[in-house]
Amino acid sequence: MSEKAKVIVDGKEFELPVITGTENEKAIDIGKLRAESGGVITLDYGFKNTGSTTSSITFLDGEKGILRYRGYPIEQLAEKSEFLEVAYLLIYGDLPDKETYEKFKREISDSYFVHEDIKKIMDGFPSNAHPMGVLSSVATSLTAFYPASLDPNRSPEGVNLSIKRILAKMPTFAAWTYRRKLGRPIIYPDTAMDYCSNFLNMMFKMPGGRYEVDPVVANALDKLLILHADHEQNCSTSTVRITGSSRGSLYTSISAGINALWGPLHGGANMAVIEMLENIRMDGGDTKKWMDKAKDKDDPFRLMGFGHRVYKNFDPRARIIKKAADEVLEALGVQDPVLDIAKGLEEVALSDDYFVERKLYPNVDFYSGIIYRAMQIPVDMFTVIFALGRLPGWIAQWKEMRENGEPIGRPRQIYVGHTNRTYQPINER
Ligand code: SDX
Repeated sequence: MSEKAKVIVDGKEFELPVITGTENEKAIDIGKLRAESGGVITLDYGFKNTGSTTSSITFLDGEKGILRYRGYPIEQLAEKSEFLEVAYLLIYGDLPDKETYEKFKREISDSYFVHEDIKKIMDGFPSNAHPMGVLSSVATSLTAFYPASLDPNRSPEGVNLSIKRILAKMPTFAAWTYRRKLGRPIIYPDTAMDYCSNFLNMMFKMPGGRYEVDPVVANALDKLLILHADHEQNCSTSTVRITGSSRGSLYTSISAGINALWGPLHGGANMAVIEMLENIRMDGGDTKKWMDKAKDKDDPFRLMGFGHRVYKNFDPRARIIKKAADEVLEALGVQDPVLDIAKGLEEVALSDDYFVERKLYPNVDFYSGIIYRAMQIPVDMFTVIFALGRLPGWIAQWKEMRENGEPIGRPRQIYVGHTNRTYQPINER
């Protein structure tokens, strides 16, 4: 006997089915609510209580601080896996065997190169353009170089080709965006290099100069990309799914996701954290003063990198990144004063009633910027790195939505504007 929810609204009483997921999460399926109630709908700003889909990709429990990709705990994947292996897991549903994985990696590295005309598109941007704006534009431009990707009924083989192309080329786009911003010559991809080493090489090698990728940096980047790879129905992933639901190209959906991630309340927070920590440092490092500002309702200042829509416990990714920050800075021999400020803020917040009552803990963005800084990655590239990490998650979620044949996303609303009124000629207003 399946569970039901009884609803009494607008003088009507009826039941709606309750569905239960594999982790015993429950939802009232309101698919027939409007029909059963004669027009009543639900309203939920920010979708804080509303599920948009069922998904088999990522499970997270915000109360317990659990995060798993296709059932594998994030702690195990961060410690034992590689980013491209996690990308395969998210997109295709299982960890690949050795032969499959080697073939997947080779297909990706063989596709690192981009059409030379991409440079003309990038040259159209002023050098001070924010890298996220360039990245989303160039991602969309892939529809011009690969018009078959626009076919809404593309074959699974064609979809897989689109997937490998954007996975392979995004690091090239990201690195070239950075090089152009600095006025440096671009470095072409090296198909003999692994994913992260190739990206770092394109970011930091100078023509004619020697550049050895530091394995500590490459490994730390690989781990960070794993930690950012997916996070169920967050703002940017929901944007990818709803954009993809109109049956456009994977590339246009990814571009929409990049733009959604850019905002300071979402992926842009990692940049905002470093700017905040620097401001506190330059202001004398008085963490109590800034904590008070964060708690003051009349002060727009928020403690960036703190709080989360879902995690009401420690973000498991923040725990891993905090540990990695200590390891990477020690290995690179970097002393970063803002790390101590970050730890000081965390310590004060975790014992402060305002933060404890609201269950505000450090999230994925609180410590990641400190590692990027130690890796010589510039602040306005932090969210680009987040996008590189989140790319396989966006792809997996888009693919799942398409394979499930989900309808075009079109939410309803409750109208609260003027009721019917008559147009008045301008000289009578
Ligand atoms: C990411 O969804 C995902 O999964 C996102 C992400 C992913 O992997 O995709 O995890 C990545 O986006 C992480 C979040 C990065 N953003 C930041 O660090 C920005 C700072 N954080 C906040 O803006 C906020 O916590 C949000 C946006 C993350 C969550 O906002 P919610 O869920 O809408 O919560 P809310 O704004 O309603 O806050 C609840 C209360 C409020 O106080 P009251 O009105 O109850 O008195 O907590 C307060 C807020 O004022 N609050 C904060 C705060 N975050 C929430 N107060 C001070 N500083 C903060 N950072």
